[in-house]
Amino acid sequence: MIKTLAAQIKEYKLPSILTPVYMVGEVIMETIIPLMMASIIDKGVEVGDMNHIYKMGALMVITALVSLFFGSMGAIYGSKASTGFAKNLRKAMYENIQTFSFSNIDKFSTSSLVTRLTTDVTTLQMAYQMILRMAMRAPATLVFAMVMSFIINAKLASVYLVAILVLGVFIVFIMRRASQYFRAVFEKYDEMNSSVQENVSAIREVKAYVREDYETERFHKASFNIYNMFISAEKNVIAMMPIMQATVYTCILLLSWIGAKMIVADSLTTGELMSLLTYCMNILMNLMMLSMIFVMLTMSQASAKRICEVLDEESDMKNPENPVMSVASGDIEFENVVFRYHESSEKPILDNVSLKIKSGETIGIIGATGSAKSSLVNLVSRLYDVSSGSVKVGGVDVREYDMEVLRNEVSVVLQKNVLFSGSIIDNLRWGNPNATEEDCALASAMACADEFIDKLPDGYNTHVEQGGANFSGGQRQRLCIARALMKKPKVLILDDSTSAVDTATDAKIRAAFTSEIPGTTKLIIAQRISSVQHADRIVVMEDGRIDGVGTHEELIKNNEIYRDVFESQNGGNRDFDE
Ligand SMILES: Nc1ncnc2c1ncn2[C@@H]1O[C@H](COP(=O)(O)OP(=O)(O)O)[C@@H](O)[C@H]1O
Ligand SMILES: [Mg+2]
Repeated sequence: MIKTLAAQIKEYKLPSILTPVYMVGEVIMETIIPLMMASIIDKGVEVGDMNHIYKMGALMVITALVSLFFGSMGAIYGSKASTGFAKNLRKAMYENIQTFSFSNIDKFSTSSLVTRLTTDVTTLQMAYQMILRMAMRAPATLVFAMVMSFIINAKLASVYLVAILVLGVFIVFIMRRASQYFRAVFEKYDEMNSSVQENVSAIREVKAYVREDYETERFHKASFNIYNMFISAEKNVIAMMPIMQATVYTCILLLSWIGAKMIVADSLTTGELMSLLTYCMNILMNLMMLSMIFVMLTMSQASAKRICEVLDEESDMKNPENPVMSVASGDIEFENVVFRYHESSEKPILDNVSLKIKSGETIGIIGATGSAKSSLVNLVSRLYDVSSGSVKVGGVDVREYDMEVLRNEVSVVLQKNVLFSGSIIDNLRWGNPNATEEDCALASAMACADEFIDKLPDGYNTHVEQGGANFSGGQRQRLCIARALMKKPKVLILDDSTSAVDTATDAKIRAAFTSEIPGTTKLIIAQRISSVQHADRIVVMEDGRIDGVGTHEELIKNNEIYRDVFESQNGGNRDFDE
């Protein structure tokens, strides 16, 4: 994990090294100052030497300024290193996510990916800055102050050696308890985040089902839970304050008591006692600091793990060594295809499917929801890889193509189609960045999208909201079909893409396909028999298998499922007519 993360420091190595160096510089200055104090008291105040006081005072001001300089440089380089590190992390994660295949994406939910890219990176950024600035500074202070104290007076210094040990034990004990709570809090955070993201993105459904109260209640509970856990964690941290104070004051009392006796016996000077007291405070403060770093590290551990999961995820779909760079034709062949979404699942989603489709054919695919229609067509553009068997396009296994080449020739309108924010023409150009306005108009006409686009005041420049929210379901579907047509593909796949389009328009789109792109192989998944009735052949899917293949007339005669569906849909129509 450390290795994966450290690889992202990249060009910020220098600031990452300079920060602790500057911080140590600051510590050295801070260690010198009490010595000067001692000198002022012992050689200035006690003997009444004003000159010495001025000289030392000036030196102290200079040292303080140098210390300030080191401190500021440490802060500047610390921020540079940590924000740069976070930037690199986000970039690396984002780039890796772009290479993910569909099955990689299935592993993470979208909301979790967003949380990882934002909240988790910020947590790590803060932790990194803290580590750079404090992880060296705190131990350095401990060591330097300890050494100085022993040089000044070994007997007194051993007083706080004991105190440090006592306090150290307490701190470790308390922090271990607190970090358990912190870890739990961060897990709950994740749950709350995904619940928020899911509900906000589905706010229309929430409202449609009048679930606002329920969802609000659920959110309150999750939120209150986190509140309680944070309180428990903080209670533990707060418990450290009185222990810390007690140790500090005990130390001061002991030092003053033993020190006073020593001063009387002439084995210690007042100035030395002063500097010992300052070192004592320094040491105890830095112990606290160390314990805070410890908490910070526990809190960021969960984030680091989640970030590494994204960085380490390897796309399970790679281009072959010598990819085939052109698709010869729109022939498609499924050969004994077995497919599972998870290698471990027992029952395959597609079970031994074989089917040959000739270039230019129109194939209708029908079947109940869950019969694996989408799964079948998604194999053609290699959105998923088969578990065994093969899928060939233009006579070549899809796994041998360059993926970009294949996907440019096999155009899919996904069942869950999405439009992006931007103008209509921007969206159409997703299909082909170099398309002219005429190309766009042509594709829109084929998909019957021109009918409503021409009525819009801004036409093709009309703004599309995120997800296409300002268009109706049927309009969105027609825009998505037009977008898919922009590629002038050899294979066109429509996955239930006219479900929200009225029957007349549906028929018009089909007619346009037949007259305008006769050479393109068309796979059309539909629920309505009328959408596939005129296809060259119709495939009836049932529970991951092909139940029957044939023309409308053949299937009516031979296929029970097809006949049932046809009769129920036509029966419905007759009722309506009567
Ligand atoms: N991304 C996925 N991960 C795991 N299982 C899936 C995924 N997509 C679909 N399935 C499962 O595969 C089966 C077939 O789904 P699908 O091909 O979408 O059917 P259809 O398109 O015919 O409605 C269903 O049982 C569904 O639960
Ligand atoms: Mg489907």
